[in-house]
Amino acid sequence: MKMSFSPPLCFLIMLSLLSLSSFNVSCRGQEQEDGSSGAPMERGEQEALYSAIQGFVGKWWNGSDLYPDPCGWTPIQGVDCDLYNGWWYVSALNVGPVYENSLRCAQDARLTHHLFELKHLTTLSIYSCFSSPRRNPVRLPIFSWGALSNTLESLELRSNPGLVGTVPASVGSLKRLQSLVLLENGLAGPLPMELGNLIRLKRLVLSTNGFAGQIPPALGGLNSLLILDCSRNNLSGQLPLTFGGLTSLLKLDLSGNSNLDAPLPGELGNLRNLTLLDLGGNKISGGLIRGIQEMVSLKEIVMSNNPTLRGDLTGIEWAKLEDLEVLDLSNTGLTGRIPESMTRLKRLRFLGLSDNSLWGTPPPELASLPCISALYLNGNNLTGQLDFPGTFYGKMGRRFGAWNNPNLCHRLPLTSSSSLAVNVPFGVRPCSRAGNASGNRTVSSLLIAEMSEGDDDLHRDLQIEVSSGWPSRGVNGSGWGSTSKEMMALVWVLLLVMFE
Ligand SMILES: *[C@@H]1O[C@H](CO)[C@@H](O)[C@H](O)[C@H]1NC(C)=O
Ligand SMILES: *[C@@H]1O[C@H](CO)[C@@H](O)[C@H](O)[C@H]1NC(C)=O
Ligand SMILES: *[C@@H]1O[C@H](CO)[C@@H](O)[C@H](O)[C@H]1NC(C)=O
Ligand SMILES: *[C@@H]1O[C@H](CO)[C@@H](O)[C@H](O)[C@H]1NC(C)=O
Ligand SMILES: *[C@@H]1O[C@H](CO)[C@@H](O)[C@H](O)[C@H]1NC(C)=O
Ligand SMILES: *[C@@H]1O[C@H](CO)[C@@H](O)[C@H](O)[C@H]1NC(C)=O
Ligand SMILES: *[C@@H]1O[C@H](CO)[C@@H](O)[C@H](O)[C@H]1NC(C)=O
Repeated sequence: MKMSFSPPLCFLIMLSLLSLSSFNVSCRGQEQEDGSSGAPMERGEQEALYSAIQGFVGKWWNGSDLYPDPCGWTPIQGVDCDLYNGWWYVSALNVGPVYENSLRCAQDARLTHHLFELKHLTTLSIYSCFSSPRRNPVRLPIFSWGALSNTLESLELRSNPGLVGTVPASVGSLKRLQSLVLLENGLAGPLPMELGNLIRLKRLVLSTNGFAGQIPPALGGLNSLLILDCSRNNLSGQLPLTFGGLTSLLKLDLSGNSNLDAPLPGELGNLRNLTLLDLGGNKISGGLIRGIQEMVSLKEIVMSNNPTLRGDLTGIEWAKLEDLEVLDLSNTGLTGRIPESMTRLKRLRFLGLSDNSLWGTPPPELASLPCISALYLNGNNLTGQLDFPGTFYGKMGRRFGAWNNPNLCHRLPLTSSSSLAVNVPFGVRPCSRAGNASGNRTVSSLLIAEMSEGDDDLHRDLQIEVSSGWPSRGVNGSGWGSTSKEMMALVWVLLLVMFE
């Protein structure tokens, strides 16, 4: 039976508190008859709760005075209780500024041993509490965790920059733990391999601390794990081969550990249920593994900013990743062509291939991916004619990037209609008449190139009305003004350049 304070009960409590001042005794009696606080609480349990909270919020907080019946008619925000054999025990303690009346930590907040005297504590959450690593550094106790080993299911320590030092091996004794979240603290040092004993874990989040050293291979034995996030630490070495055993895993985020530097283990291909793979901002090497194509549940692959990755894209049958929505391989040292199989990723919304050394001509089918809303090919060595429809450039604006490909040009569409709304890709020059990208830039193409290089949002959605033949004709001076439409178009272009 869980205590929960539904609105009517809250109302009742408020009423009883209000009347408390005048009819103190009778009110207590009524509550007892109600049965809502009929069960007793062990004296030791109650004292431990008060002292533990005092450790966080400060000595001024007098629990027995303010909350004489913490599991009954004077509930404490952030404290939940459960009945065991007819006695109340604290089941959850949540400290930190979540609600207006939450327990807030003092500047000299401490973790006291009283916390470990709560016999049925299943949830402990300490949020935004230990704030200063210099004025008040707080460390995790080394020996106390065993006392909670039969009860604690969720431990969450979040946004505590003053929580420093290492994670003691004894945290590995919390064998009932299903969720361990140590997010945004000042913790450092190696991860204890004893974390591998927490075999019931579904969620392990260690992000944004200063953890260093290798990822313990023992973590690969946590085969109930759904979420593993060790991002933004200082972990180094390789992804353990054992990670192939994390077959239930939905999310794997190891991004931003600038020293993870080995090739990806082929065993990752076993993670058939994985939807997120984020390894961005590391130093992974050895190219993309073929196993990726077996990870058929993937929705997001982020490998950006691993300049040492290298290799090419052609070894993978991309079309197998039917659910893929985000593929970010920017700045990964890739070479080779953009494979045709990428144009069959029907769910793809984001494709980032910028800042690599890709060559060849981008497949025009990329523009007809039904969901695509951002496509970055800039900063490569792509060549030839960009053959996407003008409407595509218009729709995408700056979310289509093809600039910084010195040998790439775009072909403005030839249509039979006399006028057409044309959008040009930002920073890409039009192809000259013969489709020669590097030779003979004509006057008009220079103007447009200049325009599209301007760093002005105005240009992004700019629609220039031009006659159908004008851009591709390679105007050399004599052709100008042969129709008034062409003249108009030119005036527009000149005006726009003037207003830069
Ligand atoms: C709390 O208040 C009670 C009664 O008001 C008093 O007896 C007790 O000493 C106080 N405890 C602390 C720790 O201040
Ligand atoms: C990260 O680890 C490297 C050695 O592996 C060390 O030189 C560096 O100072 C560490 N950085 C931080 C922020 O701890
Ligand atoms: C993968 O997901 C499917 C469907 O959600 C589920 O039935 C299956 O048990 C999962 N596999 C593992 C190894 O957890
Ligand atoms: C781009 O490709 C050309 C040949 O097509 C080659 O000569 C040049 O070195 C390449 N540049 C880069 C940066 O890869
Ligand atoms: C394109 O022009 C450059 C320089 O004018 C020339 O060297 C090259 O041979 C031309 N290429 C084609 C395909 O016409
Ligand atoms: C431009 O084209 C003309 C012929 O139309 C040719 O004579 C000239 O050499 C070309 N210029 C360059 C730089 O390729
Ligand atoms: C440029 O115009 C002249 C006529 O003035 C024409 O003879 C020549 O073929 C044109 N050149 C190009 C490249 O269109």
